[in-house]
Order: sequence, then C-alpha cells, then structure tokens
Amino acid sequence: MKGIVLAGGNGTRLHPATLAINKQLLPVYDKPMIYYPISVLMLAGIDEILVISSPDYVDNYRRLLGDGSQFGISFSYAIQERPEGLAQAFLIGREFIGSDDVALILGDNLFFGAGLARTLRKARETSRGATIFAYRVDHPERYGVVTLDRSGRPLRILEKPEAPESNWAVTGLYLYDNRVLDFAAGLEPSERGELEITDINRIYLELGNLDVERLSRGHAWLDTGTHESLLEAAEFVRTIQHRQGLQIGCLEEIAFQNGFIDRDQLIARGHMFDKTEYGRFLLRIADLAPDVDDG
Ligand code: DAU
Repeated sequence: MKGIVLAGGNGTRLHPATLAINKQLLPVYDKPMIYYPISVLMLAGIDEILVISSPDYVDNYRRLLGDGSQFGISFSYAIQERPEGLAQAFLIGREFIGSDDVALILGDNLFFGAGLARTLRKARETSRGATIFAYRVDHPERYGVVTLDRSGRPLRILEKPEAPESNWAVTGLYLYDNRVLDFAAGLEPSERGELEITDINRIYLELGNLDVERLSRGHAWLDTGTHESLLEAAEFVRTIQHRQGLQIGCLEEIAFQNGFIDRDQLIARGHMFDKTEYGRFLLRIADLAPDVDDG
C-alpha cells in the first residue's frame, strides 16, 4: 500500500500566521505538523509516501524530509496547482499509486491513541474496498458526517450537513483499493468547486464496499485548522510528552520499531538533535528500546 499526505491549501483561517509559510510546516509543539500524519502512515507499515503541496512550498518539504532514507522509507513530491479538492490527490498521484492500494491522510490531522498501529494494520487487512475512520465529536457539522446502523455499517455520508444525523465525523484518513483512481477520474466538482472526498466515499458506500472503523474514546483526533485548535493540539502533545517522557509523532522511533532503520542510524539522528528533548529521546530509546511501549 502506498501513502499520500495532502499538504496544500491556502491556510486562510490561520492568516496572518500562514501568509509566508504553508500551514502543515507550522510546529505543533516541538515538531512540524506534517510529522504527525506521516507518523500515522508509518505506523500502518507504509514506507512509500507521496507528499503533495502547493507550488510555493513543495521545496520546503523536500528540504525538511528529503528522500526519506533517514527514516528507511521513500518520499516523493508532487504539486497541486490550486486547492481543488481532496480527491484531486488521486489524479495527481495516479502514477505514484500505480496498481497499488493507497492511504490518503490530510497533512493537518493529528491522531493519537492506544492501539492505533494495530487498528490501522487490521483495517489494511480487512478492507473490502474503502475504509474510513470515524470519531465522535460535539460539532459534526464542521466535517464529513457518517450515519451508521446498529451494527456499525454506514447508511449515509454527507459533507458538512447543516443538521447532522449523527455525531460521527469522518476523519482525514482514508484507505482505498486501486479503483479509487477511476472513481476520482470520474468525479465532477461540487457546488464549492472541489473534487470531494465525500463523493468518493459515497461511491464505495453505494457499492457496499465502505467500511467504517470507529475510533474509540481512548483515541484523540485533533485538527489544527484554526489558531485555537492549533494551540490546543500543541498543548495536548506537550502534556502527554511531558507526563510520559515519550514522544508523539516521532518518525525515527516508528522507523526503528518497524525495522526500517537500525540502532546506529537511530543514534546518529539522536546526536543530530541532542540539544532537544526529541534528540535525547532517540538516544534513550536506542538504549532502552525493549522497554518502550508503542501503545
Ligand atoms: O479533517 C477532516 C475533514 O477534512 C473531513 O471530515 C471532511 O469530510 C473533508 O472534506 C475535510 O474537510 P475540511 O473542510 O477540513 O477540508 P479543508 O478544505 O479544510 O482541507 C483539509 C486540509 O487539506 C487542509 O489542511 C488543506 C488541505 N487541502 C485542501 C484542499 C481542498 C489541500 O491540500 N488541497 C485541497 O485541494
């Protein structure tokens, strides 16, 4: 399975902070926002990732992430000329995806929770076409919303409905089989002029091929779209990291646990950042790796 991180958009809700920088490069506490969604793909075992961003910023990602060899994975880069919808990722990424399945994650979504790696890997194995991840929220009208029957099967899915039928928001992580390429190619822009991911999900739903994985209350799903939510996400990361002495979204740690890099590579990265808690954490887990619980 290939992975795509979509990190374009205009970040208008974060102006003026995002006038000269792409939103997904902003820090969430101690690391760039895009580390968090990349960590989710890596936790799912994905080691080939395409980063899509706008023309002005794609080189910043190249500088930040390189070819991925420091994490034992590979990064490719592509440009989205204008933010014309999440589903455009499959048109831009068509060649990269080839004949594979694909996971799409939004560059501003942060997931955290016990057993996340297990949930993702299980979903990869059992998906019948598409799998989306739903999270219970208080204000579902801000998101895609899925209505479920008693056994958790999806009945309807709507983008930002005025009167939501359920509290299950569709998070920005989507797993698809290769048919998504054709489904995306056949989409028409919505009223707001975008190729909607919700329309893709609706196609799978109508075919009876959409699975909904509900993230339990032990998980956190945070988005970082406004100044308020960005600060809340940073406070969340700081609180957990400070309390546990562990890291959220630490790419080298996941790479090491997955066997993508070896201990020497981990130590070398630790030394690169040894003035920070991040670097000291890498050096610590290189010594104590068996004691660190990945949740
Ligand atoms: O966060 C989850 C939600 O994301 C889902 O519940 C919705 O169903 C889905 O449509 C999406 O809603 P948003 O209103 O949050 O999407 P937004 O347009 O804000 O885009 C999400 C991120 O993707 C944002 O960081 C910008 C980036 N983006 C967006 C578009 C439309 C791109 O990189 N390219 C794009 O064309």
